Amino acid sequence: MEKEKIKQAAEMIIKAEYPVVLTGAGISAESGVPTFRGKSGLWKKYDPEAAVSIAGFRRDPEPFWDFAQDLLLENDIQPNPGHIALAELEKLGIIKKIITQNIDFLHQRAGSEEVLELHGTLNRATCLNCKKKYDWKDLVPVIEAGNIPECDNCQSNKIKPDIVFFGERLPQDALKQAWQAAERSDLMIVIGTSLAVYPVASLPSVTKENGGELIYLNVDSGQQDYLFDLIIKGKAGEILPEILKMID
Ligand code: APR
Ligand code: ZN
Repeated sequence: MEKEKIKQAAEMIIKAEYPVVLTGAGISAESGVPTFRGKSGLWKKYDPEAAVSIAGFRRDPEPFWDFAQDLLLENDIQPNPGHIALAELEKLGIIKKIITQNIDFLHQRAGSEEVLELHGTLNRATCLNCKKKYDWKDLVPVIEAGNIPECDNCQSNKIKPDIVFFGERLPQDALKQAWQAAERSDLMIVIGTSLAVYPVASLPSVTKENGGELIYLNVDSGQQDYLFDLIIKGKAGEILPEILKMID
């Protein structure tokens, strides 16, 4: 059954003028990065308002750093075959843009270049007090030792990764480019996201309203199944290489 759908997806992608991809935590699940919702989701263990809200962080950064330990530091995460297949489809000139909610930088590490990070990136950090910039890799040893990073310029403990916290605006330029890509796209492939968080969750409707088609790739059903022309149940790391094989 899924074999037939994989063939259908490959045909839709080949036919499309401007296919774009929208990804969420599910595409990184097979790299060992925990997702947010679902039975073992991070929001079962942490209250997002306390752990990843800007008001909470300004009050006390500690809950965030506990959360960050779980999110990315538990293991040395690597791009998986799903990320790699998408990078290959970009190299073949097929996929035009990846719009992602993920902050793990795995699309770029797999070789994708046209990536719009709508929820920011853990790859960089900024001191909220004096605006000094940091690279994530410089902070990892301190966090792995279970400490809170301290700014070496102003000694504050408010070094915050460049990710969008609850209560913060999304990066406006990236959001504008994502909206334009969704409007221009005649096919959006939505991978590994529950579509629970707006405004990103509005993007599939933007493509649909402009006459585009939609493919949903997920291990589960989602909140907007009615919108989709094709729904493939399966793991991104397994299905995407199959689709690539049919195209390449
Ligand atoms: N392959 C495909 N889909 C998968 C896989 C997999 N291997 N594993 C899990 N999924 C699906 C789940 O079924 C779920 O629908 O990935 C989705 C993950 O959903 P969420 O955990 O809600 O993550 P996401 O949609 O990215 O969350 C959006 O919410 O908390 C905020 O800022 C956070 O960017 C995040 C946003
Ligand atoms: Zn500082």
